[in-house]
Amino acid sequence: MKKVFVKTYGCQMNAYDSVKMTDLLAPLGYAATDAPAGADMVILNTCHIREKAAEKVYSELGKLKQLKRDREGMLIAVAGCVAQAEGEEIVRRAPVVDMVVGPQSYHRLPEMIARAARSQGKAIETDFPALEKFDTLAPPQSSGVSSFLTVQEGCDKFCTFCVVPYTRGAEHSRPAQAILTEACQLVEKGARELVLLGQNVNAYDGDGWSLARLCDALAGIDGLQRIRYTTSHPRDMADDLIVAHGDNPKLMPYLHLPVQSGSDAMLEAMNRQHKADDYRRLVDRIRNARPDIAMTSDFIVGFPGESDADFEATMQLVRDIGYATAFSFKYSKRPGTPASTMRKQVAEDVKAARLDALQKLLLSQQHAFDDSQISKTLPVLFEKTAREAGQLMGRTPYLQPVHVMADAALIGTTANVKIERRTANSLHGVLA
Ligand code: 5AD
Ligand code: SF4
Repeated sequence: MKKVFVKTYGCQMNAYDSVKMTDLLAPLGYAATDAPAGADMVILNTCHIREKAAEKVYSELGKLKQLKRDREGMLIAVAGCVAQAEGEEIVRRAPVVDMVVGPQSYHRLPEMIARAARSQGKAIETDFPALEKFDTLAPPQSSGVSSFLTVQEGCDKFCTFCVVPYTRGAEHSRPAQAILTEACQLVEKGARELVLLGQNVNAYDGDGWSLARLCDALAGIDGLQRIRYTTSHPRDMADDLIVAHGDNPKLMPYLHLPVQSGSDAMLEAMNRQHKADDYRRLVDRIRNARPDIAMTSDFIVGFPGESDADFEATMQLVRDIGYATAFSFKYSKRPGTPASTMRKQVAEDVKAARLDALQKLLLSQQHAFDDSQISKTLPVLFEKTAREAGQLMGRTPYLQPVHVMADAALIGTTANVKIERRTANSLHGVLA
């Protein structure tokens, strides 16, 4: 058996793609390994969303150079969004790389490996043959209790800070039938929760099927207990999806709905195409349908032109909404995006101070949300054993990790847990 090491950076869709690439290489005699040393092939599945993410790839390639020198015939592939964005530039900057393959063309890896083995030079594939890869990928070989399932890819929104429309291409949805088939296969392999993935997942349109309709059909799969989806855009939050949060018992009360900023001027400069109050009203409507829903978001601080007042508007929006948890980032210039050449870029120390203030506020909201579960009894889906002997890790409907002393036989089942206390990042409880 040959060995392949896949290192995943970035988002959940990259994690899904890494599994697919590993499955794709199995028939070629490659088994997955968890370290680059001794591997016959290394795939870096990269992220281009922020500058730091992309730089990490080149530093990793520097380290791999020595390993490759010591191991004849070792192949190195750069996949994912850096591959898509930089293409041939990668082999110029890092000649150690044999293959560059974008997120829409990795189903061509087997041919590329054959080409590389014949020493026919570097293999580079950065086409966008939308959806072709899904037709050629093998059914899932295995599944955890919670499994990702890509239903939509790409983005047509062109937020001015974002590389996604350039790296993942135009918005396209997989046909509902293909998704239902893959969902059934995953459930057969042990999945009890599916997390539907898409860069704009709530814009899902599978030949007229909305995301809500897809979730309703998925809810009919016996053995599937929970459905989640991510990431959504406020402008695509359709009425039927809001209704589904009240009606579909398998759809979990958790919604990642990035707003990025609470300032209308910034939202406009970002090309988000909605105002802060539109978002407030939208969250009200969602909470009317599902009062206990856990809201989460992404924020960018220090977008070009952001004043103290703009930043304060973001802080006010956070106070108004009350998040269960959220991600926040300093604005990072991305090559080729409109915002990277905007005037009035914000100084690094200002960005850092704003990020610090925002993260403190968000963390206090996270703790308040977690504390509000203490002494409640919640259904917990157990995913795996925890570090401490005899303990399992599971999740509440609100995605909070919970640690419970329980028999490993409960993995893959849902049981009621009385929440007793909170530590920094998780809850602890006892079987009810
Ligand atoms: N700078 C900082 N954060 C960014 N994001 C996307 N592009 C950038 C950028 N250029 C953040 C957004 C998005 C999340 C996935 O990453 O908040 O929602
Ligand atoms: Fe990026 Fe999301 Fe905007 Fe698409 S919708 S451009 S992924 S921030």
